[in-house]
Amino acid sequence: MLFSRYLGILLLISQAQSLVIVDSSIASACIYYMKQFDWGCGGTGQGHKYYLCRCGNVDWLGSVASCISGQTNNKGKIDHALKHVTTRCLQKGHFHYTVDDMKQWRENATKYIEQPTAHDIKERLYHPLGVNQTDFAVYMRSFDEINHHVFKSQWLGWGLLYYWVAVVVIFAMLHLLQIYLGLRPPRRIAQFCEKYLTPVRLWGYSFLDIVVMGLFLVFTVLATALSYTVQLPNVYMNDVYFLTLDLIGYRSAIISFSLLPVVFIFGLRNNPFTFLTGLPRATFIKYHNYVAIIMSIEALIHSAVWTDYAINEAGYLAWSIDDYWRWGIVGTVLLFIMIGQSFQPVRNFMYEAFLVIHIVFGWLFIVAMWYHCVTLGWMGWVYTMIALTVYDRVMRWAKILVLNRGLTELYVTVVDERTLELTLPKPLAYDMSYRPGSSVYVTFLHSKIWSQCLQSHPFSIISSPATSSNVLKMYVRVKRGATRSLLRLPADEKGRLRLWCLLDGPYGGFTYKHRDSDDRVYIAGGLGVCSLLPHVYSNPAGAKLIWTVANAREFWCMRRDINYVRERGTEVTVYVRDPSGIELDDEKMLFVQPADRRPDFDELIGEHVKAAKADKKRDLCIYSCGPGNMDRQIKQIATRQIEVGLDFSVHHKSMNYQW
Ligand SMILES: Cc1cc2nc3c(=O)[nH]c(=O)nc-3n(C[C@H](O)[C@H](O)[C@H](O)COP(=O)(O)OP(=O)(O)OC[C@H]3O[C@@H](n4cnc5c(N)ncnc54)[C@H](O)[C@@H]3O)c2cc1C
Ligand SMILES: *[C@@H]1O[C@H](CO)[C@@H](O)[C@H](O)[C@H]1NC(C)=O
Ligand SMILES: *[C@@H]1O[C@H](CO)[C@@H](O)[C@H](O)[C@H]1NC(C)=O
Repeated sequence: MLFSRYLGILLLISQAQSLVIVDSSIASACIYYMKQFDWGCGGTGQGHKYYLCRCGNVDWLGSVASCISGQTNNKGKIDHALKHVTTRCLQKGHFHYTVDDMKQWRENATKYIEQPTAHDIKERLYHPLGVNQTDFAVYMRSFDEINHHVFKSQWLGWGLLYYWVAVVVIFAMLHLLQIYLGLRPPRRIAQFCEKYLTPVRLWGYSFLDIVVMGLFLVFTVLATALSYTVQLPNVYMNDVYFLTLDLIGYRSAIISFSLLPVVFIFGLRNNPFTFLTGLPRATFIKYHNYVAIIMSIEALIHSAVWTDYAINEAGYLAWSIDDYWRWGIVGTVLLFIMIGQSFQPVRNFMYEAFLVIHIVFGWLFIVAMWYHCVTLGWMGWVYTMIALTVYDRVMRWAKILVLNRGLTELYVTVVDERTLELTLPKPLAYDMSYRPGSSVYVTFLHSKIWSQCLQSHPFSIISSPATSSNVLKMYVRVKRGATRSLLRLPADEKGRLRLWCLLDGPYGGFTYKHRDSDDRVYIAGGLGVCSLLPHVYSNPAGAKLIWTVANAREFWCMRRDINYVRERGTEVTVYVRDPSGIELDDEKMLFVQPADRRPDFDELIGEHVKAAKADKKRDLCIYSCGPGNMDRQIKQIATRQIEVGLDFSVHHKSMNYQW
């Protein structure tokens, strides 16, 4: 709660400050008005050369200061505008002035001031100038308009941010109603949605994703493209093309910044919304990718527009020596490298390298944005990014050190070439913080694999009542990286290995409330059973578990867990592809069946539907966890079984939460 308050405050600050010319329209109008006269600087440009000359000229300083004071009675606005002039003199001319210096020059100038004439534009001036209000009006209007545009852009940016707030709030409300009040949507509507909408898939996105992401795209395009009315003449830029470019540059930058908190918070390991909405982290990572791409496109538009403008209008070199310009380029480049290496094929090819680059570049991006904005304003967004990053790290270490008591001893048993069993003592806070289906990120510490001590890999936790109430277990499929090196570590003669580890968790894990009228079928493929078993444990009576495994050893290492749930009323069927080593004739082993390929899920599910109907059940809930194609196949079969209008429904939920 405290955290979200801080977040709110940080987000608010970000509105208070502003970009160079929009920082103070009065100051900008006065600077632009005064620069048309000849102060002996050899031109009317806005580059370093001219500021170096003008800021050293008391006549110019006095004129600008008295111009500013003549435009308003608001003391705060005047001081802010004077401050703006000193900042520009510091950045562009390296003069260290204070607001009081400005006020002194203003005082002194009143003694010498003269009204401007047409001569002053052509001839060198040696006295301070006043303001011809008739001529000045267009200057004020020009900058007020640009200010108004930026103000509007900020609100559009906030609107897009609040879109995601609304999405999260709606999901959270639906979830909490379901959890605490046990509410379910009306049967017919649910049946219709599950039968006709869940099968809809576009590039792997579900119907709901398409709606949420599609609406966001529409809103972003509208917010970026609409409402660029400009009035000429405009003294800042009197060319419709460049003025519009300029405004697009502001708009896209502000929208891109407003989306940064969304990108950051959805990508965090400790994303608070997974808990509130019951959606898995994988879903938020999907949204994280999507918003990040749109945010980067906005940033690219911003960069492209300003580059085009700078090359054509102001001379690229004059701009490119500014630090904020360079850091802006660094930031945009970082974004596109990060996105480029996040696409699934690249990511899967080198997952660990992807993670390291993603994290380090994420930090570098914050640094780049810091230097990009430190002179321009909008630092609130940068502080927000820092706050979110720090929050995630603090949460991780709190979980590692407090919930899981820091260094933990871990025993690794090699089940076979493809499978490892990890055993560890139960953390103190287990009952309080873990839920069925929780997973933890494990960092393995061993001298022989020291180079991997910065990695952490997620695994599902099984608290196995069958083995011992003091230990937790994880079953690990050997892949190419850290899991492979674990397999290669030297073990003792019993095939066991002891090493230290850090546990960051728990994450995920949900308790599903079931009614007596629900029938539950759990379908697991291989080690996917690790995600399903904890749910079966928590309510074994009447559950049905179907498990397909490759060989007897894999089944054997979990036989006690299987027996445990069988004794408590779960109907278990195990399909083993290579059953050598199991005595299938044994009476106790009747539930184990040899299968040369995957069982026919169509037939199996059909039977369960019939059985559930015969049992007078009203809902059949099918949970599956296995390889992606198996989950998809089961989803298809389950949706085919739904009949809209019947007083009996079939639901499917995949518990494979990998991304
Ligand atoms: C919530 C969750 C629960 C999981 N539970 C289990 C389980 O109980 N048993 C099991 O065997 N596996 C589980 N996994 C998968 C497991 O995390 C990966 O297989 C493991 O990290 C691979 O390590 P590696 O270095 O050998 O992989 P590599 O061969 O380097 O990579 C193989 C693939 O594993 C995934 N992966 C690798 N590192 C990470 C990481 N740090 N974070 C997320 N994904 C990663 C990537 O998709 C990658 O493409 C789970 C994954 C998630 C997300
Ligand atoms: C006061 O103003 C005049 C005219 O601008 C200038 O010549 C003089 O140096 C100023 N004095 C101070 C103390 O700034
Ligand atoms: C202001 O400038 C206009 C021309 O742009 C001129 O007609 C007018 O007389 C000026 N006013 C004063 C007070 O100098």
